[in-house]
Amino acid sequence: MLEIETHNLSKAFGDLVAVSDLNLRIPKGTLFGFLGPNGSGKSTTVKMLTGMLPPTSGEVFISGQSVIHSPIAVKKRIGVLPEDLALFDSLTIWEHLLMVGPVYGLSHKETATRAEQLLVYLDLWQGRHTYVDGASSGTRKKCSLAMALIHNPEVLFLDEPFEGIDPVSSRNIKDLLLLMTRKGVTVFLTSHILEVVERIVQSFAIIVAGKVVCTQTMEETLSDGETLEDLFFKHVVRNKAEELEWIG
Ligand SMILES: Nc1ncnc2c1ncn2[C@@H]1O[C@H](COP(=O)(O)OP(=O)(O)OP(=O)(O)O)[C@@H](O)[C@H]1O
Ligand SMILES: [Mg+2]
Repeated sequence: MLEIETHNLSKAFGDLVAVSDLNLRIPKGTLFGFLGPNGSGKSTTVKMLTGMLPPTSGEVFISGQSVIHSPIAVKKRIGVLPEDLALFDSLTIWEHLLMVGPVYGLSHKETATRAEQLLVYLDLWQGRHTYVDGASSGTRKKCSLAMALIHNPEVLFLDEPFEGIDPVSSRNIKDLLLLMTRKGVTVFLTSHILEVVERIVQSFAIIVAGKVVCTQTMEETLSDGETLEDLFFKHVVRNKAEELEWIG
C-alpha cells in the first residue's frame, strides 16, 4: 500500500520553480530520505506534503487521502517537524506538549503520560520548564519533535531532524525512527548528514534545483558498491577550493 504519493507536484514562487513535477511513491512502513543541496526544494516539498503550502499544480495523497481536498483529515494522521519549528516563545517545553496533545483528541492525563516519556527519552525532562525562547537550538528542535510524536502519527515528516542534535539524542532519534517503521509508521525525512541517512533509510530520492535526479533503494546503492556520498556527488556539481586563488 502506498502511504505517500504525489502526481506531478510542483511549486513556483514567481519565476522560480522550486519543485517541478515531483512523482513520489512511498510504501507504508518505509523510512525514506529526501536529499539535496541547499535550496533544492526539500522544505518546499515537505510543506506541500503536509498541507502547509498549497502546490502550484499536482496532487498529494497520504494513505489515499488528498492533502489538498481533505487537509484536516490528513493532518490528524501525520506528525511534522517543520524547518521553522513553529514554537511559542512565551511557553515552556512542558506547556507546548500539554497544549498539543488535546488538539489531537488526547486526554490531559494521556498527554501528560506520553509527554513525560518523550521528554525523558529525548533528554528534555530536567529542562521541561525552560521557556523555548531561551532554549538552545537543539532543545527547541527536540521539543518540536516531541510535539510531532505525541499523537502517535501514522506518517511522520521530519525536516532536518539531526541538524544541531547531540550524538546521544541523535542515536535515540534514529532508534525511535527504526522502531516506528518496523511497526508500520512511514517516515519521510530530509537531511544533509549522508552518513546517518545511509545507515537508516530503506530508500531515498535526490533532488537538485527542484527536480528529482535519482530515486532508489539503499540496497541498490550498496549492491553497486557505492556510498550515498558517492552517489550524491555524481548528481551534484562540487566546486574546487583551488578556484579561490586569492585565499590563504
Ligand atoms: N516563500 C518563498 N518565497 C520565495 N521563494 C522561496 C520561498 N520558499 C522557498 N523559496 C525558494 O525555493 C527554493 C527551494 O527552497 P527550499 O527551502 O525548499 O530548499 P531546501 O532544499 O529545503 O534547502 P535547505 O537545504 O537549505 O534547507 C529556494 O530557491 C528558495 O529560495
Ligand atoms: Mg530546507
